[in-house]
Amino acid sequence: MEVRVLRTNAEIGKTAAKIICDYVNENPSCVLGLATGATPLPTYGCMIDEYKAGRVSFKEVRTFNLDEYCGLPREHKNSYYTFMAENLFSKADFDMKNVGFLDGNADAEEESRRYADAIKAAGGIDIQILGIGRNGHIAFNEPSDEFTDEAWKVKLSDSTIEANSIYFDDIPMPRYAITMGIGSIMRAKKIILIATGASKAQAVRDMINGEVTPRCPASVLQQHKDALILLDESAAALL
Ligand code: PGA
Repeated sequence: MEVRVLRTNAEIGKTAAKIICDYVNENPSCVLGLATGATPLPTYGCMIDEYKAGRVSFKEVRTFNLDEYCGLPREHKNSYYTFMAENLFSKADFDMKNVGFLDGNADAEEESRRYADAIKAAGGIDIQILGIGRNGHIAFNEPSDEFTDEAWKVKLSDSTIEANSIYFDDIPMPRYAITMGIGSIMRAKKIILIATGASKAQAVRDMINGEVTPRCPASVLQQHKDALILLDESAAALL
């Protein structure tokens, strides 16, 4: 694990976007694993800026997103599909036929197999972007007794429901989601995990300095060969 503490969200976004854009320029049809949430937005903003400046093209890039809520239509304003379309895909030259997404309304077992096959057929994920939950979750892999492998349907924890409910102003937040498993995430060749803000400080400490345990799912990244952790000073405060 390489840990870098940077001063601002903007600097973190720039750093992550540079790694991604450099990789895309060298490997135009590479496979990116993408995340939703507030954390990756500065990174996506910088990727869009690079595209608009003519310094990168994403038209051959294949993508797989980490997770999706169950029980929401794909077009709902709170679906992660809509989040990605609005915050990244529609603002650069991504080709939507290269976009891989979990279907939160499909049979979870079949969907898990389909996603695993699709990732394999694409040659695996080259760079996986991750955030971290206040409880140490990565994607929607909540603290539990075992590490999961492929995608699975998860009951969201109270901590996650509390953190994400702010985005749901018309309907109650879904209680279930389908998420890439820990095994799928760990098979990515490179991982960039970003954590910002004091609310992530305890989870960051457990991830970096704690034992490797599914009680803190992100701690598994200690065992990844190429994991870069980008933090601001607040998220790094307990290290
Ligand atoms: P956030 O979510 O980026 O909105 O803080 C991160 C996560 O829960 O993984």
